[in-house]
Amino acid sequence: MERGTTYKPYRIKMVEPITVPTLSERVERIRAAGYNVFNLNADDIYVDLLTDSGTGAMSQAQWAAMFIGDESYAGSRSYARFQEATHDIFGFSHILPTHQGRAAENVLFSSVVKPGHIIPNNMHFDTTRANIIANGGEPVDLVIDEAYDPGADLPFKGNMDTGKLEALIDEVGVERIPLVMMTITNNSGGGEPVSIENIRAVSEIAHAHGIPFFIDACRYAENAFFIREREEGYAEKEPIEIAREVFSLADGMTMSAKKDGLANIGGILAMNDDGIFAATRERLILMEGFTTYGGLAGRDLDAIAVGLREALDLNYLRDRIGQTRYLGDELTEHGIPIIQPVGGHAVYIDALGLLPEFLQSQFPALSIVVALYEQAGVRAVEIGSVMFAHPDENGNVVYPKLELVRLAIPRRMYTRTHLDAVVDGMMEVASMKGDLPGYAITEGSGPLRHFIARFEQVPRR
Ligand code: F0G
Repeated sequence: MERGTTYKPYRIKMVEPITVPTLSERVERIRAAGYNVFNLNADDIYVDLLTDSGTGAMSQAQWAAMFIGDESYAGSRSYARFQEATHDIFGFSHILPTHQGRAAENVLFSSVVKPGHIIPNNMHFDTTRANIIANGGEPVDLVIDEAYDPGADLPFKGNMDTGKLEALIDEVGVERIPLVMMTITNNSGGGEPVSIENIRAVSEIAHAHGIPFFIDACRYAENAFFIREREEGYAEKEPIEIAREVFSLADGMTMSAKKDGLANIGGILAMNDDGIFAATRERLILMEGFTTYGGLAGRDLDAIAVGLREALDLNYLRDRIGQTRYLGDELTEHGIPIIQPVGGHAVYIDALGLLPEFLQSQFPALSIVVALYEQAGVRAVEIGSVMFAHPDENGNVVYPKLELVRLAIPRRMYTRTHLDAVVDGMMEVASMKGDLPGYAITEGSGPLRHFIARFEQVPRR
């Protein structure tokens, strides 16, 4: 058989039972949860697409590696294996483990960001943004304009607009920009990839101004797959060769190992600069733990060391991206508007494309998330006005450009049968679109309200 997208490079050895509450039970559970899927019990969910973070299935090699985890406080064998794998792939001279991605961000930004500083990125993920703000800095998104157009079908829709980067540096001056960042793939903009050409261009601009360039590497293996598939000259390269080339252009990285580390917990902070290393090492010991475990057990370091390599396996990546593409293509075929082209780890439904008359103040994407849970037991996540609407300086509410429902696919977890249930559920939701209720917030405020808010149903205006 040809090793195409229909080739499944693993079979199932251990099963985790899941149950499906009835429709009337689901309607009751989501009402009791205040219409916020973060308040649901996992037991009440059939297909859980809340996140691809830490939720995937580990391989037998990862579980086996955990048994030889060395729990020494300092200088463990597990750290040596973690160090060897991360150095081999990413190449940085200083490598620090952290308990997850946002901890790497916290350690980095609390070391280098001062009040008044600006950190450009193609698009910051929420935790990156929040960690910069918490240290008095200002996160700025410089992604290409097409990223905000759900229908714009571009091979590298996560690219940064290099003109915007140059203009920003000219405007504010290098002394206010301690780092330039790039998130691969661009989670906040649809999981879209960034080309190596764009990474090189951004690296050159940053370096021409003497500014260090860091990569948010959460989904680096998926990004390498897209480069191989779409960028000239890379079709014959191994994903690991592409990854090495990408990271050779950067001065450091942050990463959540819960994504392309194929682990359930963990993060990485790495860099070449001795000064940044000295500062972050201090912060790490203060906030996470000693430099050779950084808030993790030794066995977690071993799971990551194995997972980082498995994520670069071409057959794994074909299956992984193939699943996301299958879900996206099926939804498109059935008339559900999604961000095009389909990204790496998730499919993003364009809620305003499906419900153009629905006022953003009544939370259209939330209405779809709730209905999808009720109809199919599928947990998606709202990435729209619940998450991003905020008051401006005059107290007027600013709504986000996009109202999205994210269907994030955990790695190596679900079969095509599960994905078909998601498509059937969405078709059911689309058929009810005139009847979907609006929502109003009854509890919860501030930038993290999406995790804790409660809602009530209100008639559509
Ligand atoms: N950067 C990106 C691009 C991410 O997607 C995430 C997490 C983080 C940093 C933070 O990593 O969770 O280990 O602290 N994204 C998850 C998600 C939570 O659902 O997209 P973390």
